[in-house]
Amino acid sequence: MKKLTIKTTVQVFHDIEELDPADQKLLNMAHKATKDAWAPYSRFSVGAAVLLANGKYLHGSNQENAAYPTGLCAERTALSVAASRHPKIPVVSMAVTVKTDIPINRPVSPCGSCRQAIFEVEQRYDENIKIIMQGETGDIYVCNSIKDLLPLSFTADLLP
Ligand code: THU
Repeated sequence: MKKLTIKTTVQVFHDIEELDPADQKLLNMAHKATKDAWAPYSRFSVGAAVLLANGKYLHGSNQENAAYPTGLCAERTALSVAASRHPKIPVVSMAVTVKTDIPINRPVSPCGSCRQAIFEVEQRYDENIKIIMQGETGDIYVCNSIKDLLPLSFTADLLP
């Protein structure tokens, strides 16, 4: 038996002003996008914003449904907007945040399904996607690739 140790690096910032201007803009856009969420069931309004390689910024929010599994997460909403409107352009970064009745002051990170979906986009364009995560307030976590949040990923090359 041998052990495999997997390391993840997360950069931690205490203030949005410490981010570079493009990342600040993206995170602010994600905060704004929480206002468009349809989250009457969870009251957990998530905002996501993506920056494309052509400089375009797009955003999405979670859209829930009374039949719970039918709802969509903010990250996958934003990625769907990007892929539908700009199918040939890679996504270079994504910001995710949340708004709740009692403010969350630690970073929210993408759920497992969204990690897999973001991973697929990295593979599709062969480009890492920087992930910027924050609660309504508090520290900001930054990873340089979804692979940092999804070790031992399921990859399409296993499929026939
Ligand atoms: N949600 C997201 O939008 N993104 C995530 O990564 C985690 C969860 C949404 C789904 C649901 O509408 C609500 O947050 C509570 O789970």
